[in-house]
Amino acid sequence: MFIKIFLITYRYKLTVISIIGGGTIGSSIAIPLKRSGFEVIVTRRNTAVLKHLESYGISVMSDNKTASKEADVVFLTLKPVDIIPEVRKIEENIRGKLLISMAAAIPLKLIKDAAPHSIVVRAMTNIAAKVGAGFTPFCVDDGDQEVAKRASSILSALGEVYLVEEKYMDALTALSGSGPAYILTIIEAMMYGGLKLGLPRDLALKASYQTVMGSAKLLAESGEHPSELKEKVITPGGTTIDGIYELEDARVRTAIMKAIEVSTMKANKISESIKKLEQ
Ligand SMILES: NC(=O)c1ccc[n+]([C@@H]2O[C@H](COP(=O)([O-])OP(=O)(O)OC[C@H]3O[C@@H](n4cnc5c(N)ncnc54)[C@H](OP(=O)(O)O)[C@@H]3O)[C@@H](O)[C@H]2O)c1
Repeated sequence: MFIKIFLITYRYKLTVISIIGGGTIGSSIAIPLKRSGFEVIVTRRNTAVLKHLESYGISVMSDNKTASKEADVVFLTLKPVDIIPEVRKIEENIRGKLLISMAAAIPLKLIKDAAPHSIVVRAMTNIAAKVGAGFTPFCVDDGDQEVAKRASSILSALGEVYLVEEKYMDALTALSGSGPAYILTIIEAMMYGGLKLGLPRDLALKASYQTVMGSAKLLAESGEHPSELKEKVITPGGTTIDGIYELEDARVRTAIMKAIEVSTMKANKISESIKKLEQ
């Protein structure tokens, strides 16, 4: 009987994930990871603001060494500048473990240099991970397929995952990592358009975000190009073309392209300054 219980417990020992840095993104990923069946520990210095996570069965602490010792997998969700100093402090406790950095702009090599005995993955999710609808591109050291499979099975808790080469990570940080901020700006602008015309606030907001969600779902499921779908909305001489004319006049597409370009350049700049600090 005892042996049977021991075997059942052993077989079902849950993977423990520790998230170092429970700020915006750290606390956002904690919930879907817990819901996917992992044991989750989140750290930050001011633990009082993480109390709400305890109601999900997530443990909260301020001690990164204990958290990383307890863990099978460690996520790093600290500010980029804090990543390498913190990795050095926990290095002994993360040997042989999967270490997933979610930080913008920190190259795999820098993390690997600080934690040479860990299995290092660099990933970039977005805030939609909180509701399991994130997009998480990630890259692995030396393109190791076994590591990629393991990382993918964990990161899938956050939404869609995509294995990429590291050279694409800064651009993806700008596009899909920061992307929710751009899309939310557009949703807000659409809502304001509705308010200007006297629509009730709730209706204007719902009409705006449902339209964005519906357009994205249609795009994903139809397999058609955005231009083809857009053409279907633009009736010759109809109402939409007048709106499109204004958007083109305001160079909205150029502005969005520039936003992604300058955000990528900023990631490159942060990366360079951190590499210099580490020299
Ligand atoms: N925000 C996003 O949408 C997003 C998306 C993808 C990736 N990221 C990446 O995620 C990382 C964090 O960004 P964020 O927006 O979540 O920033 P944030 O809200 O400032 O989170 C960082 C957290 O780290 C904690 N912290 C600082 N020093 C610590 C230490 N020694 N030990 C444990 N915790 C510590 C801070 O809390 P205390 O001061 O209480 O310790 C803070 O809550 C960045 O590298 C960013 O590039 C962010």
